[in-house]
Amino acid sequence: MSEDHYPPQMIAMLEAIWGEGFLSPGGAEEVGRVIGGHDLTGRSVLDIGCGAGGIDLALVARHGAGFVTGIDVEDPVLAHARGLVAKAGLSDRIGLVKVAPGPLPFPPGMFDVVFSKDSIIHIPDKHALMAEVFRVLRPGGWFLASDWLIGTETISPQMAEYIAAEGLDFGMATPARYHQAMQAAGFEAIETRSRNAWYREQARVELARLEGEAGRAAAAVVGAGFVQKNIGIWQRMIPVLDSGEHCPTHLAARKPGAAG
Ligand SMILES: C[S@@+](CC[C@H](N)C(=O)[O-])C[C@H]1O[C@@H](n2cnc3c(N)ncnc32)[C@H](O)[C@@H]1O
Repeated sequence: MSEDHYPPQMIAMLEAIWGEGFLSPGGAEEVGRVIGGHDLTGRSVLDIGCGAGGIDLALVARHGAGFVTGIDVEDPVLAHARGLVAKAGLSDRIGLVKVAPGPLPFPPGMFDVVFSKDSIIHIPDKHALMAEVFRVLRPGGWFLASDWLIGTETISPQMAEYIAAEGLDFGMATPARYHQAMQAAGFEAIETRSRNAWYREQARVELARLEGEAGRAAAAVVGAGFVQKNIGIWQRMIPVLDSGEHCPTHLAARKPGAAG
């Protein structure tokens, strides 16, 4: 019996919705939109909450990162990611490390870029995390991330019901809280950019796929009951996306210092 939030059944379910190696929406295209105009060629990148590996493959294969260190707290996602990295022949460019929640196990200034996609939601203390991100970045380095935020500090019963349906250890915070955490850590050029309008539409496409062929194919692997449970989650998620309470957001900030 596992206590993992992302056991193999969950990985298979999310891959059916989001593509091989992805545990969050938008695939490699959305990774590219998080990176924006930044050039990762040859850069040393830390990926916080690397999950099943799709992100790290995209950082290297599409964006030319020199070396990606992917960290995660759960074994099944890391095992899955290691398989995909080996299959892609990129084991010399991607290192995957199991970590415990808390301080990052790296020396100061080790990374050019700290990336994260939809994982910081699981880390409740945004201030402590941002201080750690700042510490491991070199001067001039960038924090580039996406995460699932809440629109306001107080949540509605619908939002509470949606979060309960997810059954995950969500620690959601507002854009203001993220901004304060980045500012307190010492970052400059801080940006938070809502992706609510994009995901509001995307989530409807995902629900239609779950209710159609993709859902039927997934049911053969994860069971019809699990697919139905996830359909219920999406049905609860769409109204809170529409209300703006569930607010996927891109984050960017620079550590002061030499140009990066
Ligand atoms: C929604 S998944 C996203 C995975 C991947 N970034 C993606 O977009 O496909 C969130 C991931 O964060 C990981 N996670 C949770 N708490 C963490 C922590 N304190 N440090 C690093 N990773 C964590 C989970 O195990 C999971 O793999």
